[in-house]
Amino acid sequence: MQVILRQLGDCNIRRAEPSDLIPVMEINLKTLPEHYSDYFYESLLAEIPEAFIVAEIGGKHVGYIMCKTEYGFSNFKKLGFVKKGHVVSIAVLQEHRKKGIGKALVEESVNGVRLKKCDEFYLEVRCSNNEAVRLYEKLGFVIRQKLNAYYRDGEDAYLMAIEL
Ligand code: ACO
Repeated sequence: MQVILRQLGDCNIRRAEPSDLIPVMEINLKTLPEHYSDYFYESLLAEIPEAFIVAEIGGKHVGYIMCKTEYGFSNFKKLGFVKKGHVVSIAVLQEHRKKGIGKALVEESVNGVRLKKCDEFYLEVRCSNNEAVRLYEKLGFVIRQKLNAYYRDGEDAYLMAIEL
């Protein structure tokens, strides 16, 4: 049964199911240079379906966010060891941007990682990706670190995080 989390006009924001993975991969291929194996998508959906979320308009997939959980050093507390949610990837098709879909996807994934009892939530984003950095900042994420040459093409990333 589909779990609809919220509706934004004609756009349904809902938890992903196995049949959503191919459309999600298609959006990823169109929108981002970082791609993943089929197995990786399947494993994220199996691990934390609460934070693997799709946006759909009239039966067409227009966006997704997928996350994982990890244990590691806190991005806020010195020497703290915490459970962290990690945004692996988020994207909205170009023609559906600036309608609030990205914000809804991040907010619902925050709810999802909270359900998994994560203490913090973090992500990496290209330093040049102003739209994404602005979106995360509006939702309370702060830049905690600059990761030099994080991407294959040599670009730096910001590590942005939020305490839950
Ligand atoms: N009318 C006008 N503007 C609006 C409306 C509306 N109804 N609703 C929201 N907006 C504005 C927001 O205020 C925001 O404005 P701002 O940029 O001036 O602050 C802007 O639209 C974007 O907010 P959303 O609509 O919530 O986000 P969007 O759906 O456009 O998605 C995203 C943002 C995901 C970053 C998108 O640009 C994208 O897919 N980019 C390509 C892929 C990408 O870069 N992904 C992130 C990589 S990092 C990672 O994956 C961890």
